[in-house]
Amino acid sequence: MGTAYGFLDRLGIKKVNSGACYGKWIEEPEGDMLVSINPATEKEIARVKMAGVADYELIMEKAERAFKVWSMMPAPERGLIVRELGQALAYHKEDLARLISLEMGKIVKEGGGEVQEPIDLEKITGGRSRGVSGHLFHSERRGYGLETRYNPLGPIGIITASNFPAAVWGWNAFVALVEGDVIIWKPSPQMPLCAIAVQNICNSVFMRHDRNLEGVVNLVIGHDAIIGERLIGDNRVPLISFTGSTEVGRYIAGKVSGRLGKYILELGGNNPSIILNDADIDLALEAVFFSAIGTGSQRCTTNRRVYPHQDIYEDFTGGFVRMCQNIRFGDPLDPKTLVGPLINEKAIQKVLHAAERAEKEGGKILLRGKRLDRPGFFLTPTVVEMPAGKNLPIALEETFGPIIYVSAIESLEEGIALSNESRQLLAASLFSESRKAEYIFRGPMGVRAGILNINCGTSGAESTTPFGGNYDTGWGREGGGDAWRNYVRESSGATNFMGNRELAQGIDFFENQKEESK
Ligand code: UN1
Repeated sequence: MGTAYGFLDRLGIKKVNSGACYGKWIEEPEGDMLVSINPATEKEIARVKMAGVADYELIMEKAERAFKVWSMMPAPERGLIVRELGQALAYHKEDLARLISLEMGKIVKEGGGEVQEPIDLEKITGGRSRGVSGHLFHSERRGYGLETRYNPLGPIGIITASNFPAAVWGWNAFVALVEGDVIIWKPSPQMPLCAIAVQNICNSVFMRHDRNLEGVVNLVIGHDAIIGERLIGDNRVPLISFTGSTEVGRYIAGKVSGRLGKYILELGGNNPSIILNDADIDLALEAVFFSAIGTGSQRCTTNRRVYPHQDIYEDFTGGFVRMCQNIRFGDPLDPKTLVGPLINEKAIQKVLHAAERAEKEGGKILLRGKRLDRPGFFLTPTVVEMPAGKNLPIALEETFGPIIYVSAIESLEEGIALSNESRQLLAASLFSESRKAEYIFRGPMGVRAGILNINCGTSGAESTTPFGGNYDTGWGREGGGDAWRNYVRESSGATNFMGNRELAQGIDFFENQKEESK
Protein backbone atom coordinates (compact mmCIF):
# COMPACT_ATOMS: atom_id res chain seq x y z
CA MET A 1 0.00 0.00 0.00
CA GLY A 2 1.31 3.45 -0.90
CA THR A 3 1.97 6.29 1.54
CA ALA A 4 0.53 9.83 1.48
CA TYR A 5 3.52 11.25 -0.37
CA GLY A 6 4.64 10.20 -3.86
CA PHE A 7 8.29 10.76 -3.03
CA LEU A 8 8.10 8.20 -0.22
CA ASP A 9 6.97 5.58 -2.70
CA ARG A 10 9.75 6.51 -5.11
CA LEU A 11 12.29 6.13 -2.29
CA GLY A 12 10.90 2.72 -1.42
CA ILE A 13 9.38 3.75 1.93
CA LYS A 14 6.37 1.66 2.87
CA LYS A 15 3.90 1.99 5.71
CA VAL A 16 5.84 -0.64 7.63
CA ASN A 17 9.52 -1.10 6.84
CA SER A 18 12.34 -3.35 7.89
CA GLY A 19 15.10 -1.60 9.81
CA ALA A 20 17.84 -4.15 9.14
CA CYS A 21 19.71 -4.61 5.91
CA TYR A 22 22.95 -6.13 4.58
CA GLY A 23 22.23 -5.29 0.96
CA LYS A 24 19.11 -7.41 1.29
CA TRP A 25 16.43 -6.39 3.77
CA ILE A 26 15.82 -8.78 6.65
CA GLU A 27 12.08 -9.36 6.22
CA GLU A 28 11.03 -9.65 9.84
CA PRO A 29 13.67 -8.21 12.16
CA GLU A 30 13.08 -9.18 15.76
CA GLY A 31 13.21 -5.71 17.41
CA ASP A 32 10.42 -3.39 18.52
CA MET A 33 8.23 -1.31 16.22
CA LEU A 34 9.38 2.29 15.81
CA VAL A 35 7.04 5.05 14.68
CA SER A 36 8.49 7.91 12.64
CA ILE A 37 6.75 11.21 13.37
CA ASN A 38 6.46 14.33 11.22
CA PRO A 39 7.64 17.10 13.59
CA ALA A 40 5.55 19.68 11.72
CA THR A 41 2.26 17.86 12.42
CA GLU A 42 3.12 15.34 15.16
CA LYS A 43 1.46 12.74 12.93
CA GLU A 44 2.86 9.35 12.02
CA ILE A 45 4.70 9.06 8.68
CA ALA A 46 5.49 5.36 8.68
CA ARG A 47 6.72 2.52 10.91
CA VAL A 48 9.93 0.58 11.15
CA LYS A 49 10.51 -2.87 12.59
CA MET A 50 13.84 -2.45 14.35
CA ALA A 51 16.77 -4.85 14.46
CA GLY A 52 17.33 -7.15 17.40
CA VAL A 53 20.53 -8.86 18.49
CA ALA A 54 20.18 -11.81 16.08
CA ASP A 55 19.70 -9.39 13.17
CA TYR A 56 22.78 -7.47 14.27
CA GLU A 57 24.80 -10.67 14.40
CA LEU A 58 23.69 -11.71 10.92
CA ILE A 59 24.61 -8.28 9.54
CA MET A 60 28.00 -8.41 11.24
CA GLU A 61 28.68 -11.84 9.79
CA LYS A 62 27.80 -10.56 6.30
CA ALA A 63 29.97 -7.46 6.81
CA GLU A 64 33.00 -9.50 7.87
CA ARG A 65 32.60 -11.76 4.86
CA ALA A 66 32.13 -8.77 2.54
CA PHE A 67 35.27 -7.12 3.88
CA LYS A 68 37.35 -9.99 2.48
CA VAL A 69 36.02 -9.28 -1.02
CA TRP A 70 35.76 -5.48 -0.88
CA SER A 71 39.18 -4.83 0.66
CA MET A 72 40.86 -6.95 -2.03
CA MET A 73 39.09 -5.18 -4.88
CA PRO A 74 41.35 -2.63 -6.61
CA ALA A 75 40.71 0.80 -5.12
CA PRO A 76 39.90 2.38 -8.53
CA GLU A 77 37.16 -0.22 -8.95
CA ARG A 78 35.76 0.62 -5.53
CA GLY A 79 35.94 4.25 -6.54
CA LEU A 80 33.74 3.58 -9.57
CA ILE A 81 31.07 2.01 -7.39
CA VAL A 82 31.25 4.91 -4.93
CA ARG A 83 30.91 7.19 -7.95
CA GLU A 84 27.69 5.37 -8.84
CA LEU A 85 26.49 5.87 -5.26
CA GLY A 86 27.11 9.60 -5.66
CA GLN A 87 25.26 9.65 -8.97
CA ALA A 88 22.35 7.70 -7.51
CA LEU A 89 22.10 10.20 -4.65
CA ALA A 90 22.14 13.03 -7.21
CA TYR A 91 19.36 11.31 -9.16
CA HIS A 92 17.21 11.03 -6.03
CA LYS A 93 18.31 14.38 -4.56
CA GLU A 94 14.94 16.14 -4.77
CA ASP A 95 12.98 13.25 -3.29
CA LEU A 96 15.53 12.69 -0.56
CA ALA A 97 15.52 16.41 0.26
CA ARG A 98 11.75 16.21 0.70
CA LEU A 99 11.99 13.17 2.92
CA ILE A 100 14.65 14.87 5.10
CA SER A 101 12.35 17.86 5.29
CA LEU A 102 9.37 15.71 6.24
CA GLU A 103 11.12 13.61 8.86
CA MET A 104 13.62 16.10 10.29
CA GLY A 105 11.84 19.44 9.80
CA LYS A 106 14.49 21.44 7.92
CA ILE A 107 13.29 23.26 4.81
CA VAL A 108 13.56 21.46 1.47
CA LYS A 109 16.36 23.75 0.23
CA GLU A 110 18.47 22.82 3.23
CA GLY A 111 17.51 19.17 2.75
CA GLY A 112 18.85 19.45 -0.80
CA GLY A 113 22.01 21.11 0.49
CA GLU A 114 22.49 18.20 2.83
CA VAL A 115 22.21 15.60 0.04
CA GLN A 116 24.62 17.70 -2.02
CA GLU A 117 27.37 17.20 0.57
CA PRO A 118 28.04 13.50 -0.14
CA ILE A 119 27.49 14.14 -3.87
CA ASP A 120 30.33 16.68 -3.68
CA LEU A 121 32.47 14.51 -1.46
CA GLU A 122 32.27 11.70 -4.02
CA LYS A 123 34.35 13.87 -6.37
CA ILE A 124 37.16 13.77 -3.84
CA THR A 125 36.83 10.15 -2.81
CA GLY A 126 36.33 9.02 -6.41
CA GLY A 127 39.55 10.81 -7.33
CA ARG A 128 41.35 9.43 -4.33
CA SER A 129 40.48 5.89 -5.40
CA ARG A 130 43.20 6.38 -8.02
CA GLY A 131 45.50 7.86 -5.44
CA VAL A 132 45.21 5.55 -2.44
CA SER A 133 48.88 5.63 -1.63
CA GLY A 134 51.62 5.57 0.89
CA HIS A 135 55.07 7.09 0.69
CA LEU A 136 58.51 5.82 -0.25
CA PHE A 137 61.54 7.13 1.60
CA HIS A 138 65.27 6.87 1.04
CA SER A 139 66.93 4.63 3.61
CA GLU A 140 70.20 5.33 5.42
CA ARG A 141 71.24 1.80 4.40
CA ARG A 142 72.47 0.84 0.97
CA GLY A 143 70.03 -1.29 -1.02
CA TYR A 144 67.13 -0.61 1.37
CA GLY A 145 63.90 1.25 0.83
CA LEU A 146 61.46 2.59 3.41
CA GLU A 147 57.73 2.98 3.00
CA THR A 148 54.46 3.78 4.66
CA ARG A 149 51.32 1.98 3.56
CA TYR A 150 47.61 2.24 4.34
CA ASN A 151 45.20 -0.66 4.55
CA PRO A 152 41.51 -0.69 5.40
CA LEU A 153 40.40 -1.39 8.95
CA GLY A 154 37.39 -3.71 8.51
CA PRO A 155 33.72 -3.09 9.33
CA ILE A 156 33.25 0.52 10.44
CA GLY A 157 30.43 1.58 12.75
CA ILE A 158 28.76 4.86 11.77
CA ILE A 159 26.37 6.32 14.35
CA THR A 160 24.58 9.44 13.15
CA ALA A 161 22.43 12.13 14.76
CA SER A 162 18.97 13.36 13.84
CA ASN A 163 19.94 16.77 12.40
CA PHE A 164 21.93 15.60 9.37
CA PRO A 165 20.46 12.19 8.58
CA ALA A 166 22.18 11.72 5.19
CA ALA A 167 25.24 13.99 4.92
CA VAL A 168 27.13 12.71 7.94
CA TRP A 169 26.59 9.12 6.84
CA GLY A 170 27.93 10.10 3.40
CA TRP A 171 31.07 11.79 4.75
CA ASN A 172 31.97 8.61 6.57
CA ALA A 173 30.65 6.08 4.10
CA PHE A 174 32.28 7.40 0.93
CA VAL A 175 35.71 7.85 2.48
CA ALA A 176 35.60 4.48 4.27
CA LEU A 177 34.35 2.59 1.22
CA VAL A 178 37.06 3.94 -1.07
CA GLU A 179 39.73 3.02 1.47
CA GLY A 180 38.33 -0.55 1.47
CA ASP A 181 36.31 -0.62 4.67
CA VAL A 182 32.75 -1.90 4.84
CA ILE A 183 30.16 0.04 6.82
CA ILE A 184 27.48 -0.61 9.41
CA TRP A 185 25.21 2.38 9.91
CA LYS A 186 23.17 2.94 13.02
CA PRO A 187 21.14 6.09 12.40
CA SER A 188 19.28 8.13 14.99
CA PRO A 189 15.99 6.38 15.86
CA GLN A 190 14.40 9.81 15.15
CA MET A 191 15.34 9.50 11.46
CA PRO A 192 14.77 5.89 10.39
CA LEU A 193 13.07 6.67 7.08
CA CYS A 194 15.90 8.81 5.71
CA ALA A 195 18.30 5.98 6.50
CA ILE A 196 16.07 3.40 4.83
CA ALA A 197 15.80 5.58 1.72
CA VAL A 198 19.59 6.01 1.52
CA GLN A 199 20.09 2.27 2.03
CA ASN A 200 17.59 1.55 -0.77
CA ILE A 201 19.58 3.82 -3.08
CA CYS A 202 22.80 1.99 -2.16
CA ASN A 203 21.16 -1.40 -2.64
CA SER A 204 20.06 -0.44 -6.15
CA VAL A 205 23.66 0.41 -7.06
CA PHE A 206 25.14 -2.74 -5.56
CA MET A 207 22.49 -4.89 -7.24
CA ARG A 208 23.90 -3.82 -10.62
CA HIS A 209 27.24 -5.36 -9.69
CA ASP A 210 27.30 -9.09 -9.89
CA ARG A 211 30.19 -9.51 -7.50
CA ASN A 212 28.94 -10.90 -4.24
CA LEU A 213 29.04 -7.50 -2.60
CA GLU A 214 26.31 -8.25 -0.09
CA GLY A 215 27.36 -6.88 3.30
CA VAL A 216 29.46 -3.93 2.08
CA VAL A 217 26.84 -1.30 2.98
CA ASN A 218 24.72 -2.22 5.98
CA LEU A 219 21.99 -0.63 8.05
CA VAL A 220 20.91 -1.51 11.54
CA ILE A 221 18.14 0.57 13.10
CA GLY A 222 17.69 -0.25 16.75
CA HIS A 223 17.56 0.92 20.34
CA ASP A 224 20.66 2.78 21.52
CA ALA A 225 20.76 0.60 24.62
CA ILE A 226 20.68 -2.66 22.64
CA ILE A 227 22.14 -2.13 19.17
CA GLY A 228 24.19 0.99 19.95
CA GLU A 229 25.78 -0.64 22.98
CA ARG A 230 26.60 -3.79 21.03
CA LEU A 231 28.16 -1.87 18.18
CA ILE A 232 30.42 0.31 20.33
CA GLY A 233 31.52 -2.69 22.39
CA ASP A 234 32.16 -4.95 19.40
CA ASN A 235 35.81 -5.86 18.87
CA ARG A 236 35.04 -6.80 15.27
CA VAL A 237 34.42 -3.09 14.65
CA PRO A 238 37.81 -1.36 14.84
CA LEU A 239 36.44 2.17 14.30
CA ILE A 240 33.33 3.90 15.59
CA SER A 241 32.40 7.23 14.05
CA PHE A 242 29.87 8.96 16.27
CA THR A 243 27.97 12.23 15.80
CA GLY A 244 25.85 13.48 18.68
CA SER A 245 26.00 15.14 22.07
CA THR A 246 29.18 15.71 24.05
CA GLU A 247 27.72 13.69 26.91
CA VAL A 248 27.06 10.57 24.81
CA GLY A 249 30.36 11.08 22.95
CA ARG A 250 32.25 11.02 26.23
CA TYR A 251 30.56 7.75 27.13
CA ILE A 252 31.31 6.21 23.73
CA ALA A 253 34.94 7.36 23.86
CA GLY A 254 35.30 5.56 27.20
CA LYS A 255 33.76 2.36 25.91
CA VAL A 256 35.65 2.27 22.62
CA SER A 257 39.00 3.22 24.10
CA GLY A 258 38.44 0.64 26.84
CA ARG A 259 38.74 -2.00 24.13
CA LEU A 260 41.49 0.04 22.40
CA GLY A 261 39.33 0.72 19.38
CA LYS A 262 39.52 3.86 17.26
CA TYR A 263 36.89 6.54 17.28
CA ILE A 264 35.93 9.67 15.40
CA LEU A 265 33.74 12.02 17.42
CA GLU A 266 31.74 14.94 16.11
CA LEU A 267 30.04 16.32 19.20
CA GLY A 268 28.42 19.49 20.45
CA GLY A 269 29.27 22.86 19.01
CA ASN A 270 28.82 26.10 20.95
CA ASN A 271 29.92 28.27 18.10
CA PRO A 272 30.84 31.95 18.47
CA SER A 273 31.13 34.81 16.02
CA ILE A 274 33.07 38.02 16.58
CA ILE A 275 32.02 41.17 14.71
CA LEU A 276 34.61 43.95 14.75
CA ASN A 277 33.85 47.62 14.14
CA ASP A 278 35.42 47.56 10.64
CA ALA A 279 33.12 44.73 9.47
CA ASP A 280 30.57 44.93 6.66
CA ILE A 281 27.56 44.93 9.00
CA ASP A 282 24.94 43.91 6.42
CA LEU A 283 27.04 40.97 5.35
CA ALA A 284 27.68 39.99 8.99
CA LEU A 285 23.95 40.20 9.77
CA GLU A 286 23.02 37.93 6.88
CA ALA A 287 25.75 35.42 7.67
CA VAL A 288 25.03 35.30 11.40
CA PHE A 289 21.29 35.05 10.74
CA PHE A 290 21.74 32.05 8.42
CA SER A 291 24.06 30.30 10.86
CA ALA A 292 22.02 31.11 13.97
CA ILE A 293 18.55 30.39 12.57
CA GLY A 294 18.95 27.96 9.64
CA THR A 295 17.88 24.32 10.17
CA GLY A 296 15.88 25.53 13.19
CA SER A 297 19.22 26.26 14.96
CA GLN A 298 19.86 22.52 15.03
CA ARG A 299 23.18 22.28 13.25
CA CYS A 300 26.31 21.30 15.17
CA THR A 301 27.72 24.42 13.52
CA THR A 302 24.87 26.69 14.62
CA ASN A 303 26.04 30.14 15.74
CA ARG A 304 24.93 30.37 19.36
CA ARG A 305 27.10 33.16 20.76
CA VAL A 306 27.59 36.52 19.06
CA TYR A 307 30.17 39.10 20.17
CA PRO A 308 29.72 42.41 18.32
CA HIS A 309 32.16 45.26 19.00
CA GLN A 310 30.69 47.92 21.32
CA ASP A 311 30.85 50.58 18.55
CA ILE A 312 28.44 48.63 16.34
CA TYR A 313 26.67 46.65 19.07
CA GLU A 314 23.34 48.50 19.03
CA ASP A 315 23.12 48.51 15.24
CA PHE A 316 24.02 44.87 14.90
CA THR A 317 21.91 43.52 17.74
CA GLY A 318 18.90 45.66 16.79
CA GLY A 319 19.15 44.46 13.19
CA PHE A 320 19.50 40.84 14.26
CA VAL A 321 16.48 40.95 16.58
CA ARG A 322 14.39 42.54 13.79
CA MET A 323 15.39 39.74 11.41
CA CYS A 324 14.42 37.17 14.04
CA GLN A 325 10.99 38.81 14.41
CA ASN A 326 10.30 38.40 10.71
CA ILE A 327 10.90 34.71 10.18
CA ARG A 328 8.32 32.84 8.15
CA PHE A 329 7.66 29.64 10.09
CA GLY A 330 5.62 26.82 8.65
CA ASP A 331 5.56 23.47 6.94
CA PRO A 332 9.18 22.85 5.88
CA LEU A 333 7.93 21.28 2.64
CA ASP A 334 6.30 24.58 1.68
CA PRO A 335 8.76 26.54 -0.52
CA LYS A 336 7.75 29.81 1.20
CA THR A 337 8.81 28.59 4.66
CA LEU A 338 12.13 29.80 6.06
CA VAL A 339 12.18 27.80 9.30
CA GLY A 340 10.38 24.59 10.20
CA PRO A 341 9.81 22.85 13.52
CA LEU A 342 12.30 21.52 16.06
CA ILE A 343 12.80 17.80 16.13
CA ASN A 344 10.64 17.04 19.20
CA GLU A 345 9.03 18.34 22.37
CA LYS A 346 12.18 17.70 24.40
CA ALA A 347 14.10 20.12 22.17
CA ILE A 348 11.51 22.85 22.88
CA GLN A 349 11.69 22.23 26.61
CA LYS A 350 15.49 22.48 26.58
CA VAL A 351 15.40 25.91 24.92
CA LEU A 352 12.67 27.23 27.26
CA HIS A 353 14.63 25.94 30.24
CA ALA A 354 17.86 27.56 28.97
CA ALA A 355 16.03 30.91 28.58
CA GLU A 356 14.77 30.66 32.15
CA ARG A 357 18.25 29.93 33.42
CA ALA A 358 19.71 32.79 31.36
CA GLU A 359 17.34 35.25 33.05
CA LYS A 360 18.20 33.91 36.50
CA GLU A 361 21.90 34.28 35.69
CA GLY A 362 21.42 37.97 34.85
CA GLY A 363 20.70 37.82 31.13
CA LYS A 364 18.25 40.25 29.57
CA ILE A 365 15.77 38.75 27.11
CA LEU A 366 15.80 40.90 23.97
CA LEU A 367 13.42 38.56 22.19
CA ARG A 368 11.42 35.84 23.91
CA GLY A 369 10.83 32.62 22.01
CA LYS A 370 7.22 31.48 21.75
CA ARG A 371 5.53 28.27 20.74
CA LEU A 372 3.36 28.66 17.68
CA ASP A 373 -0.32 28.04 18.11
CA ARG A 374 -0.51 25.05 15.76
CA PRO A 375 0.43 21.38 15.90
CA GLY A 376 4.13 20.56 15.54
CA PHE A 377 7.23 21.48 17.52
CA PHE A 378 7.49 25.11 16.48
CA LEU A 379 9.40 27.60 18.61
CA THR A 380 10.45 31.14 17.62
CA PRO A 381 13.98 32.27 18.59
CA THR A 382 15.08 33.69 21.90
CA VAL A 383 17.82 36.33 21.94
CA VAL A 384 19.56 36.91 25.27
CA GLU A 385 21.77 39.89 26.05
CA MET A 386 24.64 39.05 28.37
CA PRO A 387 26.54 41.71 30.34
CA ALA A 388 29.22 43.38 28.17
CA GLY A 389 32.42 41.35 27.99
CA LYS A 390 30.90 38.38 29.84
CA ASN A 391 29.46 34.96 29.18
CA LEU A 392 26.59 33.65 31.28
CA PRO A 393 27.31 30.09 32.50
CA ILE A 394 24.33 28.78 30.46
CA ALA A 395 25.85 30.26 27.28
CA LEU A 396 28.83 27.93 27.67
CA GLU A 397 26.63 24.85 27.27
CA GLU A 398 25.23 23.75 23.93
CA THR A 399 21.44 24.09 23.82
CA PHE A 400 20.37 22.47 20.58
CA GLY A 401 17.74 24.94 19.45
CA PRO A 402 16.96 28.62 18.77
CA ILE A 403 18.58 30.53 21.64
CA ILE A 404 21.27 33.07 20.82
CA TYR A 405 23.45 34.92 23.32
CA VAL A 406 25.00 38.32 22.57
CA SER A 407 27.60 40.33 24.47
CA ALA A 408 29.36 43.56 23.50
CA ILE A 409 33.17 43.39 23.29
CA GLU A 410 35.86 46.06 23.44
CA SER A 411 38.46 44.28 21.34
CA LEU A 412 39.27 41.25 19.21
CA GLU A 413 41.26 39.80 22.11
CA GLU A 414 38.21 40.01 24.37
CA GLY A 415 36.08 38.31 21.70
CA ILE A 416 38.64 35.51 21.41
CA ALA A 417 38.80 35.02 25.18
CA LEU A 418 34.99 34.85 25.43
CA SER A 419 34.84 32.45 22.47
CA ASN A 420 37.35 30.10 24.09
CA GLU A 421 35.50 29.99 27.41
CA SER A 422 33.33 27.20 26.02
CA ARG A 423 35.06 23.87 25.36
CA GLN A 424 32.60 22.93 22.60
CA LEU A 425 34.68 24.51 19.84
CA LEU A 426 33.53 23.26 16.47
CA ALA A 427 33.24 26.44 14.38
CA ALA A 428 33.85 30.16 14.85
CA SER A 429 33.60 33.23 12.62
CA LEU A 430 35.31 36.59 12.50
CA PHE A 431 33.79 39.54 10.65
CA SER A 432 36.46 42.11 9.86
CA GLU A 433 38.37 43.60 6.95
CA SER A 434 41.66 43.46 8.83
CA ARG A 435 44.37 40.98 7.81
CA LYS A 436 45.99 41.40 11.19
CA ALA A 437 42.75 40.43 12.94
CA GLU A 438 42.48 37.38 10.69
CA TYR A 439 45.99 36.24 11.61
CA ILE A 440 45.37 36.69 15.31
CA PHE A 441 41.96 34.95 15.12
CA ARG A 442 43.42 31.92 13.33
CA GLY A 443 46.79 31.88 15.11
CA PRO A 444 48.08 30.23 18.29
CA MET A 445 46.44 32.89 20.48
CA GLY A 446 43.24 32.75 18.43
CA VAL A 447 39.96 30.86 18.74
CA ARG A 448 40.59 27.15 19.30
CA ALA A 449 37.76 25.81 17.10
CA GLY A 450 38.21 23.25 14.30
CA ILE A 451 36.58 25.50 11.69
CA LEU A 452 37.60 29.18 11.57
CA ASN A 453 35.76 31.31 9.04
CA ILE A 454 36.33 34.90 7.99
CA ASN A 455 33.38 37.02 6.82
CA CYS A 456 31.10 34.00 6.54
CA GLY A 457 28.96 32.23 9.10
CA THR A 458 29.91 29.34 11.35
CA SER A 459 27.73 26.84 9.47
CA GLY A 460 27.61 25.63 5.89
CA ALA A 461 31.09 24.15 5.54
CA GLU A 462 32.03 22.60 2.21
CA SER A 463 32.89 18.90 1.92
CA THR A 464 36.33 19.67 0.51
CA THR A 465 37.98 20.43 3.84
CA PRO A 466 37.97 18.09 6.83
CA PHE A 467 35.00 18.69 9.14
CA GLY A 468 35.28 18.57 12.91
CA GLY A 469 36.01 20.41 16.12
CA ASN A 470 38.35 20.41 19.09
CA TYR A 471 38.20 19.78 22.87
CA ASP A 472 34.62 18.85 23.88
CA THR A 473 33.60 18.63 20.21
CA GLY A 474 35.78 15.52 20.21
CA TRP A 475 38.73 16.25 17.84
CA GLY A 476 37.26 14.07 15.05
CA ARG A 477 37.68 14.88 11.38
CA GLU A 478 35.44 13.58 8.58
CA GLY A 479 34.84 14.31 4.91
CA GLY A 480 37.47 15.85 2.67
CA GLY A 481 41.11 16.84 3.02
CA ASP A 482 43.15 14.18 4.78
CA ALA A 483 40.31 12.89 6.97
CA TRP A 484 40.76 9.52 5.16
CA ARG A 485 43.67 8.79 7.52
CA ASN A 486 41.14 8.01 10.25
CA TYR A 487 39.69 5.11 8.27
CA VAL A 488 42.89 3.11 7.69
CA ARG A 489 45.63 1.31 9.55
CA GLU A 490 49.09 2.57 8.79
CA SER A 491 52.12 0.37 8.47
CA SER A 492 55.65 1.53 7.89
CA GLY A 493 58.34 -0.84 6.74
CA ALA A 494 61.84 -1.37 5.43
CA THR A 495 62.65 -3.56 2.42
CA ASN A 496 66.09 -4.99 1.80
CA PHE A 497 66.18 -5.45 -1.95
CA MET A 498 69.92 -6.04 -2.48
CA GLY A 499 70.64 -8.70 0.13
CA ASN A 500 72.77 -6.23 2.09
CA ARG A 501 73.19 -7.17 5.78
CA GLU A 502 73.44 -3.66 7.16
CA LEU A 503 71.61 -2.58 10.33
CA ALA A 504 70.17 0.87 10.99
CA GLN A 505 71.67 3.40 13.41
CA GLY A 506 75.19 2.17 12.46
CA ILE A 507 74.98 -0.91 14.67
CA ASP A 508 77.46 -3.63 13.72
CA PHE A 509 75.90 -6.40 15.75
CA PHE A 510 78.15 -9.20 14.51
CA GLU A 511 81.46 -7.37 14.95
CA ASN A 512 82.30 -9.09 18.27
CA GLN A 513 81.49 -12.48 16.87
CA LYS A 514 83.78 -11.81 13.90
CA GLU A 515 86.58 -10.84 16.37
CA GLU A 516 86.16 -14.12 18.29
CA SER A 517 86.19 -16.33 15.24
CA LYS A 518 89.52 -14.85 14.04
C1 UN1 B 1 26.16 18.88 11.54
O1 UN1 B 1 25.47 19.77 12.01
O2 UN1 B 1 26.33 17.80 12.15
O3 UN1 B 1 28.79 22.98 8.07
C2 UN1 B 1 26.79 18.95 10.21
C3 UN1 B 1 27.59 22.68 8.10
C4 UN1 B 1 27.16 21.46 7.34
C5 UN1 B 1 27.27 20.23 8.16
C6 UN1 B 1 26.70 20.29 9.54
N1 UN1 B 1 27.99 21.33 6.18
O4 UN1 B 1 26.76 23.35 8.69
